Amino acid sequence: MEKIIDENKQGESLVLEPKKENTRKLFIESYGCAMNFSDSEIVASILTNEGFNTTQNLEEADLVLVNTCSIRDKAEQTVRKRLEKYQSVKRQSNPKMKVGVLGCMAERLKSKFLEEEKIVDLVVGPDAYKDLPNLLAEVDEGRDAINVILSKEETYGDIAPIRLNTNGVTAFVSITRGCDNMCTFCVVPFTRGRERSRDPHSIIEEVNDLWSKGFKEITLLGQNVDSYLWYGGGLKKDFEKASDIQKATSVNFAKLLELCAKAQPKMRIRFSTSNPQDLTMDVIETMAKYNNICNHIHLPVQSGSDRILKEMNRLHTREEYMQLIDNIRRIIPNCAISQDMIVGFPTETEEDFQDTVSLMEYVKYDFGYMFTYSERPGTLAERKMEDDVPEPTKKRRLAEMVELQQRHSGERTKQYLNTVVEVLIEKESKKSKEQWSGRTPQNTVVVFPKEHYNIGDYVNVQTHDCTTATLIGKAIGYSENY
Ligand code: SAH
Ligand code: F3S
Repeated sequence: MEKIIDENKQGESLVLEPKKENTRKLFIESYGCAMNFSDSEIVASILTNEGFNTTQNLEEADLVLVNTCSIRDKAEQTVRKRLEKYQSVKRQSNPKMKVGVLGCMAERLKSKFLEEEKIVDLVVGPDAYKDLPNLLAEVDEGRDAINVILSKEETYGDIAPIRLNTNGVTAFVSITRGCDNMCTFCVVPFTRGRERSRDPHSIIEEVNDLWSKGFKEITLLGQNVDSYLWYGGGLKKDFEKASDIQKATSVNFAKLLELCAKAQPKMRIRFSTSNPQDLTMDVIETMAKYNNICNHIHLPVQSGSDRILKEMNRLHTREEYMQLIDNIRRIIPNCAISQDMIVGFPTETEEDFQDTVSLMEYVKYDFGYMFTYSERPGTLAERKMEDDVPEPTKKRRLAEMVELQQRHSGERTKQYLNTVVEVLIEKESKKSKEQWSGRTPQNTVVVFPKEHYNIGDYVNVQTHDCTTATLIGKAIGYSENY
């Protein structure tokens, strides 16, 4: 199952082609969402011009950077443990090592990080990566350095990311930064700042460049991609004040999707994450119109109870969400839909939980990412509500939900059994050297014998077996996309 927060990738250290003239060694690893992995590629790009090559060996690193996540307490604890690991390596075998924290924890904890964790020399928030050369100069002189200023403009649109640990086939392209939604449980608006959209020209340039390098699939990234709006720069809330010409030439998400789909008609286009209240009909219609926009929408709902949705400040009702699902199914009949859910949000009753269960039954999601509520400092829920659902209740509801999702995933996967599906080959199957692994447009993983096919090929696969989340088959030829 492809995960938005891919547990397999958590903490993966990242490497790139060495540059001869570079003498310093950077160890960089990332935790959390795809945006963090994408940001690390921007950071690597900045540091390669500062004399750094990457290494996967902590013992020889001059600089260790960890891109951090604050979304749940567990994510922060994982990073704290990594800092302990760096500490012990530094003490035992690498006294020259400097350690920097990037990303959401850096932004949330700010200078507290330098006080609480002796090992940390450098703290850099998600909008301050261009300041890294100056900050590193300070660290080189023996001082701690910090920049956690959030920006209303920074999109890193002018920096060509260096693809780290790439399969050469799929890549992330970030299109918005920050989030203005203020869901009451969520720390992201505090750690990533106001929502900004990136210049569509720089996005298309990046897509074209990826195609020329052999990439076959991109995922447009943002906390809330459907809210994308470009009118020459500036915050979305100021669009009202824009000039007539700016308004007339503005680009919304549906237009951006179309621009990408047309720029590279054989490139698979995906996007994540969609927010129900911002996913408009023109986006769904654009998906239906272009073959290369993959029929999969990640559409987190968090809860199926109207009362809880309101407490969460999710700006739609259960009924509106169900209508949206109906519209998607009507316009794109074979569209996969996936969810994020939170169980045990403050005041959630058994009845609320049953509302979520019945919504899941209604949608029958293809995939899902489910979490127990984790209270985050500074959020509205933390300030105004008591974290009052007992941990065992949260755990039980989560287990029930996961079981139901697995049943639905199984049913969805089965729909494609004994059919022909289009697969983009991404890598060797983890289970067998003789098999390829790739995904359908709906994001279902398919494995099949390699034969004469190669990574990056589009093939038609006849399926003959499946597990809950994987189709098993045999290639019957290249697809028309090849
Ligand atoms: N719009 C974002 C959401 C980021 S957070 C995106 O691009 O995906 C990813 C998921 O983590 C959320 O959808 C939510 O289900 C979960 N989450 C966020 N805050 C949480 C919290 N305080 N406790 C538990 N889960 C949380
Ligand atoms: Fe968080 Fe809600 Fe934005 S979940 S990232 S505040 S859409």
